[in-house]
Amino acid sequence: MRHFLTLKDYTKDEILEIIDLAIQIKEETKRKEFVPYLEHQTLAMIFEKSSTRTRVSFEVGIYQLGGIGLFLSKNDIQLGRGEPMKDTARVVSRMCDMVMIRTFEQAKLEEFARYSKVPVINGLTNEYHPVQLMADYLTMIEFGKADNPIVAYIGDGNNMAHSWLMLASKLGFTLRIATPKGYEPNEHIFVEALKFAKESGATIELTHDPKEAVKDADVVTTDTWISMGQEEEKEKRIQDFKGFEVTKELMKLAKDDAIFLHCLPAYRGYEVSEDVFEEHAEEIFTEAENRLHAQKGIMVWLDRKRSS
Ligand code: CP
Ligand code: NVA
Repeated sequence: MRHFLTLKDYTKDEILEIIDLAIQIKEETKRKEFVPYLEHQTLAMIFEKSSTRTRVSFEVGIYQLGGIGLFLSKNDIQLGRGEPMKDTARVVSRMCDMVMIRTFEQAKLEEFARYSKVPVINGLTNEYHPVQLMADYLTMIEFGKADNPIVAYIGDGNNMAHSWLMLASKLGFTLRIATPKGYEPNEHIFVEALKFAKESGATIELTHDPKEAVKDADVVTTDTWISMGQEEEKEKRIQDFKGFEVTKELMKLAKDDAIFLHCLPAYRGYEVSEDVFEEHAEEIFTEAENRLHAQKGIMVWLDRKRSS
């Protein structure tokens, strides 16, 4: 049995296998062929943080696969009143076939997975957001940007930056990360990515200059400067991230046909300007839609691993 907790645990071949499955299921879905790959299965969806895309895509995804999703918000279940993760895991995994969790520390997710009898999927933690990256890569393929691309990530060295580090270092492409000083990715994750990059041939670069990162890039991406749980740091972060907004001027340094991705929600006037966002809305909302297709691929893949 496999879990989907971070791309660190996945080989290039496995990532591409899931992507192929997602492409196949997306094509079937577009033809209105709803193949019941997960008939009668129940996906528990535990949320300790807010969500629009993750909730909608997992709930619709499991339904389209012939199963049903249970939305379990922290405040509605005993977890919110202090029932331990490991007990929640042992209860939920005896009744459900798969679990998706959005929580704070990756360690909490890992604890849940250790006690779970069924596959567990990371729906975002403070450290990683791997399901988002699967959707992002699917979008890169669809826009013709998956062939040895240069990806520039501008902004906070957060869960999205860490996930980009894992994707690039596993698949072997160029990733340039530009953050303000003091907001670099976690050192241990960065070092681990460099190790994977050595094996895959990826180029990983860290800079404090957004212009340097974006030069000739095929894909430019960013994320909020204030992640969930960091609301109290808002004012300081807005000051510290000055100069890191993805503007038209910055986009001019990328390749002429560069795409812009954003995991959303987006805060215009902060990490991205309104005009860049609207100019690239087709890519951004295809990326959002691809959450649905990529996660269906992940769920079906995990189910196959369990039964093989
Ligand atoms: N990108 C993303 O995970 O969005 P939500 O927070 O709305 O789920
Ligand atoms: N870095 C953001 C991503 C939201 C999808 C957060 O953790 O809030």
